[in-house]
Amino acid sequence: MVGDVRHHRGESAVTSKQRVRKRPPVMAATSLVLDGSTGAPLQEQLAEALRGAILAERLAPGTRLLSTRVLAEQLDVSRNTVLNAYARLLAEGYLVGQTGSGTYVARELPERLLSVRREAAREPARRTDAPRLSKRGAAVAEGAAKVESPSSGMGPGRMAFRPGIPALDAFPSELWGRLLHNRWQRSWHDLMSHVPAAGYAPLRRAVADYLATARGVRCVPEQVLIVNGTQQALSLAAQVLLDPGDSVWVEDPGYVPAHGVFAAAGAVRVPVPVDAEGLDVEAGQRLCPDARLAVVTPAHQFPTGVVMSERRRKALLAWAARSDAWVLEDDYDSEFRYEGRPLPSLQGLAPDARVLYTGTFSKVLSPALRLGYLVVPESLVDAFSAARGTFDRHSPVLDQAVLADFFTQGHFSRHVRRMRVLYAARQQTLVEAARRELRGLLDVQPLHTGLHLVGWLPEGVDDSAASERAERAGLWAYALSDFRLESRGRGGLVLGYACVPEAELTEAVSRLARALR
Ligand SMILES: Cc1ncc(COP(=O)(O)O)c(C=O)c1O
Repeated sequence: MVGDVRHHRGESAVTSKQRVRKRPPVMAATSLVLDGSTGAPLQEQLAEALRGAILAERLAPGTRLLSTRVLAEQLDVSRNTVLNAYARLLAEGYLVGQTGSGTYVARELPERLLSVRREAAREPARRTDAPRLSKRGAAVAEGAAKVESPSSGMGPGRMAFRPGIPALDAFPSELWGRLLHNRWQRSWHDLMSHVPAAGYAPLRRAVADYLATARGVRCVPEQVLIVNGTQQALSLAAQVLLDPGDSVWVEDPGYVPAHGVFAAAGAVRVPVPVDAEGLDVEAGQRLCPDARLAVVTPAHQFPTGVVMSERRRKALLAWAARSDAWVLEDDYDSEFRYEGRPLPSLQGLAPDARVLYTGTFSKVLSPALRLGYLVVPESLVDAFSAARGTFDRHSPVLDQAVLADFFTQGHFSRHVRRMRVLYAARQQTLVEAARRELRGLLDVQPLHTGLHLVGWLPEGVDDSAASERAERAGLWAYALSDFRLESRGRGGLVLGYACVPEAELTEAVSRLARALR
């Protein structure tokens, strides 16, 4: 686009070598070439050409630029084009100038002001072999190492059988892009400031409405905090409600990948067994009656898929009321129910408000959004808002606003309805393929809810070994024992199906059968 920009030694500018040194050099425009065929606006092309020449030092620091009128004539463009190109480079700091005394190449270029000495950046960081961590830091680091994902990456054709990932192939990307664009056009200015730590008000209202109707959650919008996913909800609860040394009931098997938040709070996990009715409340009371918190997944226990019975729900709430303890209900994938009416949330049953309720958009939309919600009793709203504000202020405002539009324009319920049909079909494909190909190797029974199933191995077969064999065949199939703390029981593989297109599911089941045989 641009050729050379040489210093002009015309009569009016310089007449002798001595004067060249005293007066600033003046640019020549003779070889500035603007190419109309690229489609880029001329003023942008000109600004780019000048910037390139400045960076390559063809226009040295201090060089005086031609006046806008003269350059416009020489390039045969409008004077506005040149004015705008100069204005842009002035704003970016490549040029300096004052009205009446001309425009010059800046002596300090922005690149220099915005970067450190390159050599310093390339020096390797000094290694300290064993950095001294806080007890909390060490506990978190150690806990995280235990829940590392299988070594291979995530990509197309490599989704089977990741649990908890929705159908990314059905993400409403065009619609999302449109909502994002509209929001930006309409109100970008309003979205550039802080919002309250508890979240963007229209989204809190939309979530409160949705939860009342779909999940029987009793709340007003002021009780809803928008958080960066369930992980942050758990972390906030641990920080606000637990002191170091306090005990917390966790389901065993359970959502172990989140447990680092309890280590970070210095709390002690008490693994409580799960049976066909969900968390065994009596066992919890025997093991640790004075726990401060119980974390449960009553709608669809993770990972077993068990629905907590009404009897157990009542027992859990009664224990919490008696012991002045809290219950944290993780309702992570309850949108996806394929038959019958859903059991309402535990939170809706708790008249004395000892339940905190959390849900996530990771399963309905994408885990990459990092958006979810936490509903807290009114008495805890201030403490949780203060904690959220202290840790990281609030979730990104633009994303919250787009999600609010997604709700208020009816897209959320439409999307959930579509995904229910899709996931029911995917589950059926998995179950049928398993009946054909995994007979005697893995017992995969259908469930009315959720995004994954557990395939049960024959008694005595080690699920870690089975999971490793699956991994060597290019499949993610977590062993059930990856989610166990102290419980023992029949081995199984956790099979996520929601993110796997049907053709891929059938092929993955064949591969799993070969791996297990
Ligand atoms: C039991 C359970 N809770 C919550 C989540 C979602 O976590 P987040 O909202 O932090 O993505 C998952 C995801 O796999 C899960 O399995």
